[in-house]
Amino acid sequence: HERQDQRLPKQRLLVVANRLPVSAVRQGKDSWQLEISVGGLVSALLGLKEFDARWIGWAGVNVPDEIGQEALTKALAEKKCIPVFLDEDTVHQYYNGYCNNIIWPLFHYLGLPQEDRLSTTRSFQSQFDAYKKANQMFADVVHEHYEEGDVVWCHDYHLMFLPKCLKEKNSNIKVGWFLHTPFPSSEIHRMLPSRRDLLESVLAADLVGFHTYDYARHFVSACTRILGLEGTPEGVENQGKLTRVAAFPIGIDSDRFIRALELPQVQDHIKELKERFAGRKVMLGVDRLDMIKGIPQKILAFEEFLEENPEWRDKVVLLQIAVPTRTDVPEYQKLSSQVHEIVGRINGRFGTLTAVPIHHLDRSLDFHALCALYAVTDVALITSLRDGMNLVSYEFVACQASKKGVLILSEFAGAAQSLGAGALLVNPWNIAEVAASISQALNMPADEREKMHQHNFMHVTTHTSQEWAATFVSELNDTIIEAQLRTRQ
Ligand code: G6P
Repeated sequence: HERQDQRLPKQRLLVVANRLPVSAVRQGKDSWQLEISVGGLVSALLGLKEFDARWIGWAGVNVPDEIGQEALTKALAEKKCIPVFLDEDTVHQYYNGYCNNIIWPLFHYLGLPQEDRLSTTRSFQSQFDAYKKANQMFADVVHEHYEEGDVVWCHDYHLMFLPKCLKEKNSNIKVGWFLHTPFPSSEIHRMLPSRRDLLESVLAADLVGFHTYDYARHFVSACTRILGLEGTPEGVENQGKLTRVAAFPIGIDSDRFIRALELPQVQDHIKELKERFAGRKVMLGVDRLDMIKGIPQKILAFEEFLEENPEWRDKVVLLQIAVPTRTDVPEYQKLSSQVHEIVGRINGRFGTLTAVPIHHLDRSLDFHALCALYAVTDVALITSLRDGMNLVSYEFVACQASKKGVLILSEFAGAAQSLGAGALLVNPWNIAEVAASISQALNMPADEREKMHQHNFMHVTTHTSQEWAATFVSELNDTIIEAQLRTRQ
């Protein structure tokens, strides 16, 4: 990362993602209130001091009028953000439809929508058209702001068509693409009617990155089996052009969490929580309310644990924070009612007049409350059915320096590859196994917990989000230099 000479101007980095890291609320005709949300990607880029980064993405709101668009563009410019304006129909077909109802479940091994097959197939084509149209709109904004030498880093499954749109207009643009979800086995990917178009477009990028080696391998197999291309140890070769494919596991800004624990308000919060749950072990789940997170399965495993271990019934509590997400998609609405029903049933079954075994919260917590919660947790229960990485597991570890609690982690989360040795790995579909792991975690001796925690803490504090971003961007620059050398030879 030290590659840049201090005297040279910083290299510009255009980060393109479906969502800007900002929530925008309209205050009036031409005024907006903006709030920055510091997710993994934002903190990663804040740490990239040697690059001059700006964001391009959808602001997450419908702004049909020019006055509103101009005002929002101006307000966002101060945060180094550039909006892409998507109309309501495009959002419906591209974001709710193709991204979240088709690619998202498929890439997480949940299949394609099954009901009403014929109409699904028909709407599939119009959703794919909207997806391509939306990707082209992102590309247009990138081209408008592009300056020679810029690096363009495209993110996630929303923008698989973007590398192609960018290179078609200007083959000199340096393009990287990173997938934050799993890339599934080629046998799953080949179910997609648009399987070839998406692969070919991603291959237009110079560097393609995934969280794990397995996802990278699946991608290369899909290109060899579905497109008939040549896979090499470096990536995929297509008509003499090599697209480099590699694994870049993301991390978190661990210092931010560790520092937060020292703040007086977080300490107060920790004290309150300890008093509130005195005499009980605290188990914690923090997830977006998404099918891939395996929340119903997790709660059923907790029920099985309580059923089999009556001595624990008034000594343990499960706090499940389920942050609502993609609420316009019917599958997500169904999931929400399903979870409420199961929680209600279990609390009715095992609750007393003074306490319930499950506290289920349908909202997000602010950063400080979340840190306090992580710090008082005895057992974190992360049982995703599939998950690209899962950074909640990293955040939990970062906040556990004094408690040294146990991490129960799904073997289907990317994080299982990095934190596996410091966690109890489970198959979330096996409810009995998860229930047994809960028992094992609650009864684990302190020295064993300490050893597992140390392993994880070391990993989380050394493999940070900043390091991830710096490595990806420097690999992208190197890949391009190597390609230029190859063509000169
Ligand atoms: C996953 C995706 C992200 C996405 C996030 C929240 O982590 O990989 O790209 O931003 O979920 O989902 P949303 O649909 O609300 O942006």
